[in-house]
Amino acid sequence: MRLADRVVGLKASATLAVNALAKDLARSGRDIISLSVGETDFDTPRPIREAAVLSIEEGFTRYTAEAGMPELRQAAADYFNRFYGAGAGAEHILIGNGAKQCLFNIMLAVLNPGDEALIPAPYWVSYPAMVEIAGGKPVEVHTGAERDFKVGVEDLERCYGPKTRICIMNSPSNPTGAVYRAEELDAIAAWAVERNILLLSDEIYDRLVYSPARHYSLCGWWRKRPENFAVVNGVSKSFAMTGWRLGYMLAHEDLIKAATKLQGQSTSNACSISQKAALAALTLGNPEEETMRRSMERRLGLVLEAVSRWPGVLCPRPRGAFYAFPDFHRLYRGEISDSASFCSFLLEKAGVALVPGAAFGDDRCARISYAVEDKILSRALDKIHDALHQA
Ligand SMILES: Cc1ncc(COP(=O)(O)O)c(C=O)c1O
Repeated sequence: MRLADRVVGLKASATLAVNALAKDLARSGRDIISLSVGETDFDTPRPIREAAVLSIEEGFTRYTAEAGMPELRQAAADYFNRFYGAGAGAEHILIGNGAKQCLFNIMLAVLNPGDEALIPAPYWVSYPAMVEIAGGKPVEVHTGAERDFKVGVEDLERCYGPKTRICIMNSPSNPTGAVYRAEELDAIAAWAVERNILLLSDEIYDRLVYSPARHYSLCGWWRKRPENFAVVNGVSKSFAMTGWRLGYMLAHEDLIKAATKLQGQSTSNACSISQKAALAALTLGNPEEETMRRSMERRLGLVLEAVSRWPGVLCPRPRGAFYAFPDFHRLYRGEISDSASFCSFLLEKAGVALVPGAAFGDDRCARISYAVEDKILSRALDKIHDALHQA
């Protein structure tokens, strides 16, 4: 079948592909543990589920306004205002089908064909694909484990050019767990203003940060220069609501209007029931937030303890999210020549699925998602340990 150029070179999501392969192997009878998924093992908290059930019972099952229910837009603005001093109103918010659609809306709304987007690498898998679909050109700004996986102004400046239109920051980061400090982000934000580009801040893991690190939001910069900043967040990670598909963005009113037009012509509003659930989430908060964060931090401890016993493997301490991104490249030899062959080896020998770092723009690493039960995680780490000693 003849397909459009824009999909021919498009990569399928690597994380979903690894998970599917792990499931296939498990179905064929192999003992497989997948540390590849990007969601917590917690359930959506009961009060949120109840709000959704109530909305169905009450017949809240029709289209809503394209940009989202006014109360939810206000609740999202309140969230950004209460925690991060955004000073936003409902008119600065768009409710989308997940943070993913918000990000996509922004790319489509601001990139003209040939415009460049700076993407610090390692990056979340979907950023380059979104930029490409929008007709833009992703420009990877490389860093590595030896630099805690963070970029600085000098790195961005080196990759900046006359066509640079946006820069995508993601702190806490998927896949590395890196959390930028306030002064680091302030320097990058000041640079974005000086260069007059849009700094798109994906803050979806803002509630999952481990002390003494703290989340620093770019909402304060948005307040001062709304035309240079956009902040994306959602309920998937912080409220264990990945399947509800509900995200929100904070941006200049012009960008909100443009993104609303795009969304109106593609998916219309986010699911009405999910919007009611998200309203409950944002107004009630997550009663299990602290339990979830503590569990993740404990599991991170298990990962770091295991990694410290793997010779030649470098893993800067993640400070947030639920991923670790060890650099395994010193173990590459013979048939194991890159992150894909390394992950195939682990799947074959250890029965553990990790996601190859190449999917995130760093072929030296592999991503471990530790959002699984402690017992399962420990067993997986032991299996990796044994396999590495056979490598
Ligand atoms: C960094 C990052 N941004 C955005 C998303 C998308 O989140 P949502 O489920 O709200 O679309 C994810 C999901 O894995 C993510 O890791």
